[in-house]
Amino acid sequence: MSSQVLKNVIVAGGRGVIGTPILNALLASGLFNVSVLSRVESTAVFPPAVNVKKADHSSHKDLVEALKGQDALICTLNDEAGGVQVQLIDAAVEAGVKRFLPSEWGNCHIKAPVPESEPVVEGKNAIIELLKEKATEAQAKGQEFHWTGVNVGLFFDWSLEVGFMDVFLQPTKTAKVWDGGSGVFSSTNLSTVTAGVVAILSIAEAETRDRFVNIESFATSQREVVAALEKATGEKWTVEETSMREQLAVAQEMYEKEDYLNAFYRWILAGVVSGREEPRFKTVDNELLGLPHEDMQETVEKLLKGDSI
Ligand SMILES: NC(=O)c1ccc[n+]([C@@H]2O[C@H](COP(=O)([O-])OP(=O)(O)OC[C@H]3O[C@@H](n4cnc5c(N)ncnc54)[C@H](OP(=O)(O)O)[C@@H]3O)[C@@H](O)[C@H]2O)c1
Repeated sequence: MSSQVLKNVIVAGGRGVIGTPILNALLASGLFNVSVLSRVESTAVFPPAVNVKKADHSSHKDLVEALKGQDALICTLNDEAGGVQVQLIDAAVEAGVKRFLPSEWGNCHIKAPVPESEPVVEGKNAIIELLKEKATEAQAKGQEFHWTGVNVGLFFDWSLEVGFMDVFLQPTKTAKVWDGGSGVFSSTNLSTVTAGVVAILSIAEAETRDRFVNIESFATSQREVVAALEKATGEKWTVEETSMREQLAVAQEMYEKEDYLNAFYRWILAGVVSGREEPRFKTVDNELLGLPHEDMQETVEKLLKGDSI
């Protein structure tokens, strides 16, 4: 008989940058019965092996019904929907869910660079505080309810493919480096993030209760990424120097024009490339989770060739 504690796993959201690869990795592992919790108005389409549960996310009763029988809930909701997790936590506790993975997927130590970005950072922190409170309460009553926050730094391959780290692939071959571009930050390829999630729910279930887990493919900087691209292609990148001050002013302008998502992305990047201590993990849990430390140059070369990472 299997001793796996977390067998029935439901992914809230399940589509998008991180939801899609997590869902695919859970299915590919063959270790779980996989469901998705999707909002009623969602038009997302899921693989046939997934049990799709539609629920009105404002209805506690609907959410409890959808979560009954689930051992773990993985949140992949975007930041605009982060507050929905308050309802999800209440429903998960009532439904008897044993593990809650909130929509973290970044770096909990990065402080808001400007006051306008505080609501997003504070929003994530508030969810962790609520989870701590609910877990303590539930455990005092003998109920197994635990949380695990997953920190991965920047999604490396995704960030490079979409230009999120201000380093742009061919044909542009440009980069905008902030304050010299040598600020070091932790980053993780999406396949390593998803392998980490599978490991947290299976081999490292007990060791990952009620804490943050740090996963990292490697730590790098904008300058190092540009150098890796130049080495891989034998071509020069046009590098524009910019500063934190200039970029925060750009973000402010976006915010004032109500371009909130792009302003928010600038603020996130400000935290990542700041050169401060917080964007680089002091310790990582790769070993516990059986994850490799990867090579940035190798990742860049695979990405340019279109090989899977
Ligand atoms: N470390 C990094 O580099 C990095 C990069 C990007 C994102 N992230 C983090 O990853 C997490 C997910 O972001 P993402 O970019 O993957 O999001 P995304 O691509 O925008 O995906 C959004 C998901 O949330 C669901 N959703 C959206 N609005 C919702 C609502 N009001 N109620 C319920 N569900 C809703 C969507 O489902 P439907 O629309 O189908 O309902 C979809 O499944 C966030 O915590 C973000 O901070 C980290």
